[in-house]
Amino acid sequence: MTGTDKLRGFIQAMTRLAEQSPEEARWLEEGGALLEALVREDDWLPDAMAEPGPGYRQYLLHCDPLERFSVVSFVWGVGARTPVHNHKVWGLVGMLRGEEVSVTMHPTPEGRMRAGQVDRLRPGEVVRVGSGEEDAHWVENALTDRPSISIHVYGGNIGAVERHSFDPETGEKRRFISGYSNEFVPNLWDRSRAA
Ligand SMILES: [Fe+2]
Repeated sequence: MTGTDKLRGFIQAMTRLAEQSPEEARWLEEGGALLEALVREDDWLPDAMAEPGPGYRQYLLHCDPLERFSVVSFVWGVGARTPVHNHKVWGLVGMLRGEEVSVTMHPTPEGRMRAGQVDRLRPGEVVRVGSGEEDAHWVENALTDRPSISIHVYGGNIGAVERHSFDPETGEKRRFISGYSNEFVPNLWDRSRAA
């Protein structure tokens, strides 16, 4: 099986799940199991979708045509860290290469934010995140000598979702729409090599 076959198979399985219009809990459970199988081996991600930049990059691997889910390769350069942000939709994060740290942030009564749970993700591990309003967190590359890569699945076209980043000191909210780092998505449909 080629790397393209693996990614295409994952997207096909997620699309079959989407056709059943599952509840969020089923997306997280069954989609999470599919993602666990995908990130179990690091031999399928196209090099162009693993290219680090300064900071972090988010490469769209696939968006469902009805925008029911999207699959993104997050490449964390050395020292890369996101702002505190929310998602508005459910999410799955599967660690493919290297390690990352995610810190959940909670609003305080004084209007600031305090750090909550800290998760360190290692290759093959998957984290499931519900679509609650208070799902803010920040993420950074846990390694200081090389890039790290995680594969994310979201319950919508995440690059087009209007969401918020937060100043943790003041709690100030800023609207943002992330977009994607790539202009073109991987071609999963040329089956001539397998033929
Ligand atoms: Fe996030």
